[in-house]
Amino acid sequence: MKVSDIQHLLYHFTPGRMWLDGDMTVFVRGEGCYIWDEEGKKYLDGLAGLFVVQIGHGRSDLANAAAKQMEQLSYTPTWAAVHPTAVDAAKLIASLAPGDLDTVFFVSSGSEAVDSAIKFARQHHRNRGNHWKTGVISRDMSYHGTTIGALSVTGLESIREPFHPLLPNMHKVGNTLQYPDADSAVQAFEDKILEVGPEHIAMISAEPVQNGGGALVPPEGYWEGLRALCDKYDILLHADEVINAFGRLGRWFGSDLVGVVPDLITFAKGATSGYAPIGGLLIRRPHVEALMKSVDGTFTHGSTWGGHPMVMAVAIANITALRDEHILENVVEHQDYFKGELDRLADAHSVVTDIRGTGYFYAIELGMPDGQPMNEKTTKRMVGEVLPRYISDAGLLIRADSRGQAKLMLSPPLIARTTEIDELLAGVDQVVTRVAGDLS
Ligand SMILES: Cc1ncc(COP(=O)(O)O)c(C=O)c1O
Repeated sequence: MKVSDIQHLLYHFTPGRMWLDGDMTVFVRGEGCYIWDEEGKKYLDGLAGLFVVQIGHGRSDLANAAAKQMEQLSYTPTWAAVHPTAVDAAKLIASLAPGDLDTVFFVSSGSEAVDSAIKFARQHHRNRGNHWKTGVISRDMSYHGTTIGALSVTGLESIREPFHPLLPNMHKVGNTLQYPDADSAVQAFEDKILEVGPEHIAMISAEPVQNGGGALVPPEGYWEGLRALCDKYDILLHADEVINAFGRLGRWFGSDLVGVVPDLITFAKGATSGYAPIGGLLIRRPHVEALMKSVDGTFTHGSTWGGHPMVMAVAIANITALRDEHILENVVEHQDYFKGELDRLADAHSVVTDIRGTGYFYAIELGMPDGQPMNEKTTKRMVGEVLPRYISDAGLLIRADSRGQAKLMLSPPLIARTTEIDELLAGVDQVVTRVAGDLS
């Protein structure tokens, strides 16, 4: 592709050097766990696009569901009137969601879903006379999106810094990696609530398994602790499941894995496996009823694309296929094998300093050959230059991440079986071997 052509497109979160050089891989086709670039090179998609393509690439049934809906009814908004496909999609998602989270507010991205959670929480408290309960507590290194609301909840200062002032009354505590046990990690939330004043806190936001920092699986009791705190101080508990939901952890929702029913769940990516842009907020029924019967009598929020008929048709086709083809069962069947092979990789390479994660969601943390952490300069060089080259040479699409220690993030399509897991880990072995050579 010509540089002058490609420069009409401004890439997301990509160094200026790559835009200036027009230096970008151009992917043109996908099938199952694989994608191909314009030169015909085949890659194993070990990241499911961006934690998205649960069902795999190239499904004509999802494309057909979209086409059929577009021919029948291309558009109508989800306000003042509804259409059957949005109703069916909401009912299907509600039937899979934990507890009494059985009402869905659709939007078009994860960031919008998080913004919707912030707005719902604020209106929830306001309608009960708690006008000052507007704040959110979230965690260090968490990623919750890029719109100003979602960015205010995000705990990565590097991407927040250019955009201050963000929303006021937004607070951060450490993530689970930063405390020795569940009790002290939960205590950090309580200390923050008491410092700010419970009358000012509307919501606690956290991913069941946090991506930023590298697939942080919480210690036993952590989510029960958060639930108890929220109940004690009249705070809504928000599970941000934009990555976790729809099978990534071998369950429909990450909240199922941690065994706690939150008040709000945000989802996006995997709900359509990336065949159409989606986001959504699942809300406990009593909270919706209370708001609808309150003085405001409405959730004062909406968008043109929320509940778009084509997107809803794709969501139904995708979730039905995940269910009927037993794709979550495939994750459950293979997750121990995946973890076992990752442990073998760690045993074989001293530069692999930790393996974290669960289901089909893993972080491989990298350090120096003597097991010490890389310094900042080495981390930057590794993640910015070296790893992307080694990963591409190995024919993989996986992510080099520098939030915390340098690491590789793995999140294959949920249809991956032993053959693809073996191929993925053989590629990762090649990458890690070259990293070890480079660092020694
Ligand atoms: C946990 C979480 N929340 C929110 C978002 C934002 O989603 P989107 O990029 O669709 O706006 C992401 C994106 O990766 C995410 O991982």
